[in-house]
Amino acid sequence: MTPDRLPPPTELPSPADPRPPSDPSTAGSSDRSSDRSSDRSSDRSTELAGRIRAEIEGKPDRRITFARFMERALYEPDLGYYRQSADRPTDAGDFLTAPETHPIFGWTIARRIEQIWDKLGRPRPFTLIEYGAGSGTLGLSILEGLRRHDSTDLLAAIRYEPVESNPNRLSDLRERFERAGLAELLALAGSPSNGPVPVIGVLLANEFLDALPVHRVVARDGRLLELYVGWRDRFVQEAAEPSTPELARRLADDGLDPGQLAEGQVAEICLDLEPWLDEVGRRLARGFVLAIDYGYPAAEMYGPRRLAGTLLGYRGHRVQEDPFADPGLTDLTAHVDFTAVQVLAERRGLHSVALTTQSEFLIAAGLESELQALQSSPETTAEAYLRARSGVVRMLDPRHMGRFRVLTLERRGSAAASDSPAAR
Ligand SMILES: C[S@@+](CC[C@H](N)C(=O)[O-])C[C@H]1O[C@@H](n2cnc3c(N)ncnc32)[C@H](O)[C@@H]1O
Repeated sequence: MTPDRLPPPTELPSPADPRPPSDPSTAGSSDRSSDRSSDRSSDRSTELAGRIRAEIEGKPDRRITFARFMERALYEPDLGYYRQSADRPTDAGDFLTAPETHPIFGWTIARRIEQIWDKLGRPRPFTLIEYGAGSGTLGLSILEGLRRHDSTDLLAAIRYEPVESNPNRLSDLRERFERAGLAELLALAGSPSNGPVPVIGVLLANEFLDALPVHRVVARDGRLLELYVGWRDRFVQEAAEPSTPELARRLADDGLDPGQLAEGQVAEICLDLEPWLDEVGRRLARGFVLAIDYGYPAAEMYGPRRLAGTLLGYRGHRVQEDPFADPGLTDLTAHVDFTAVQVLAERRGLHSVALTTQSEFLIAAGLESELQALQSSPETTAEAYLRARSGVVRMLDPRHMGRFRVLTLERRGSAAASDSPAAR
């Protein structure tokens, strides 16, 4: 644990903490019903810990990779952090993402999507696929942005396809789209417009890649070892030979030799990037990918400033130092290696167009004009304007969300079947 990852001494977020705290009046309230629900949560966490422990004890080496631990801690059906009924990225949850901070984030992305639609020749249908859509906050604010901008032609062409592994979130999303009168734009799994068919459009992922399980490695005597999870009265970390040569191969893809890591340096490697990019490569016939997350180019991510790696736990808007504490109740996340995403995407015919900070991206896309439009609207109250402005400050602040990265990839494919008049 590096000092800059310690929890902040006050309610203010630490400079290294991109996820702002909630209003203290809403977080951590403890009436009787929340006591009961926290008992149930802790029972579920104990059950999940027991299941993970059983898996470890059933292994010949009595250990599992950290990626497997993280997969179960986050995605175990009903028990994992992202498989429960509670909605996480909200004020009352454990962290706040940019789209949850204020819809102006989505309205600004809507501007970028309008530019992309024009650049692609205004195809119909035009598909917006969002990976890790949660309960649809970003999708809704993008479509609301199109309405605000009077983009009626694009609204007539667009289909929004959420990809979300939590069924609770998907049903929240469906209800919210119905309430907003936007259900007809929704392409949910099983509907004719949602399938393995390649699309023309935009594939979006906001704080999705950082939630994929990661392996952990450590440099010892110029060699790479893997950090596994064992059990000795509690979960413990154990270094041993890597579970797969893919780990060293990934560093090589990044242009790094394990010998370049400092002695004892810990790093995270996300092997799930490849299956995701395989899917992106299959789904996108023509168009753009926007991947927004906190992360770095490999040289920075695996450089001397991050000797302890980038794995973080979050609970109740605070950094949780022990990644093994309370599985299922703690969000686990690691920064994204954007060099790896670029290199692996290029191999799948997705060209890297730009890697910028979130603040650069939002300003170039028109965030300030969006704020001005809100200010000059006679319907905007002073309070609503101030709320938007404070959201904008968080989104642009280089100590917080402003330093997130936005990677734009382009698939320059030829017009596909769904671009043909027959598909309209
Ligand atoms: C950190 S949340 C971000 C939610 C939303 N994008 C936002 O910015 O507020 C990550 C989301 O990705 C979802 N997720 C993680 N892995 C997934 C996968 N393999 N397929 C679909 N959704 C996934 C989680 O259930 C969760 O809703």
